[in-house]
Amino acid sequence: MKSSAATLAPSNVVENVTSFDYARAHALCVEKARRNIRRLADRPVSGAFSPNGNYFAFPEGFFDIGNWSSSFFTGMALLAYETTHDPDLLKQVNRLGDVYRDKVTRHRMDTMHDLGFLYSLYSVALHRLTGDLDHRRTGLLAAEELAKRFSARGGYLQAWGRMDENTTDYAGLAIIDCLMNLPLLFWATRETGNRYFHEIAVKHADTTRANFIRADDSICHAFRFDLKTGAPVGPANCCGYAVNSHWARGTTWAIYGFALAYRHTGDNAYLDASARLARKFVASLDDELVPCWDFRLPADMPPLRDSSAAAIAVCGLDELLTHRPDAALAETAEALLQRLCTPSYLDANLDCPGVLRAGEVGDGPGHTPGTIKAKSVYTSWGDYYFMEALDRRLHGPTGIW
Ligand code: GLY
Repeated sequence: MKSSAATLAPSNVVENVTSFDYARAHALCVEKARRNIRRLADRPVSGAFSPNGNYFAFPEGFFDIGNWSSSFFTGMALLAYETTHDPDLLKQVNRLGDVYRDKVTRHRMDTMHDLGFLYSLYSVALHRLTGDLDHRRTGLLAAEELAKRFSARGGYLQAWGRMDENTTDYAGLAIIDCLMNLPLLFWATRETGNRYFHEIAVKHADTTRANFIRADDSICHAFRFDLKTGAPVGPANCCGYAVNSHWARGTTWAIYGFALAYRHTGDNAYLDASARLARKFVASLDDELVPCWDFRLPADMPPLRDSSAAAIAVCGLDELLTHRPDAALAETAEALLQRLCTPSYLDANLDCPGVLRAGEVGDGPGHTPGTIKAKSVYTSWGDYYFMEALDRRLHGPTGIW
């Protein structure tokens, strides 16, 4: 258990005139986590993002295959529990035990790879906190399901689609975000002694390092492999502006994902990759600090920001710096977090479930073929990583990943 947190005044706070210090911003996250986890336990949903911060109006259901995001609420509630020790938080998270088990056993999780996001922030975190063996069992089932997505020929985990279908666009496709799913596999090896989980996680990280990072240290979002031979075919894109652009959030998934791969393997090549991407990310920032959602937008595209990329970046930089200190990167991490604590980004109204304004999601095809446009929303993942970043400052690194 971590030490106790600052508290907020119990009334609804509408205080958008000054920046919050880290302790008050964390207390705000605790309070929103408390409200949100009750709503999630009453009616499980995905709650991915929202234009006005009301995640519970997002139409995707908990069991829908697109749901990769419910656990950002359980993750925040468990971070809150670690500092407040409030048993009601744990009780609310535990109310979801049956649906998390059913999701992986009865609802065909065989067409997506985000079991790491979903089960690290639920089953793994709960097992670590409580020792409950039911959560361990569910977490291991999720790791087994994720392991089925490994292509031995190409050495990667396929992002989406069934593994026995080879005619869809998803066949042979891996994406940069998947680095954040690997901690579930590393955990499964630690728990069971079965090295297979660890080995495929290492293979996937190696394949990502070899193919997704360009010579200038930017990244592509996706990469395609030949289904028959496993040979690299070339870059692809589903989330950045275009195939040759530089998606900000993808870079931050990679900075954090590679730093975590180092934590679990001790292989310096991953730390080197994380550091290269971090320096490129920092060099790409402008005076606003919070990054544009893609660093290579044409001049006629609105330069929307992505607060979630900033929050993930702070966690990734912190993880990297734990293993390899660097004063310039540390200064940027601090400046990014301070910027997120200003009224431009932080929504202090407790009636709004969302914490951070100005996150980014894709919004369909852009005006030229092969491009994507974006919209500005609150994101549940941005809120989670913002809270984790504050928590790291106030209480030390998290053991969740
Ligand atoms: N992992 C999905 C996203 O970052 O949008």
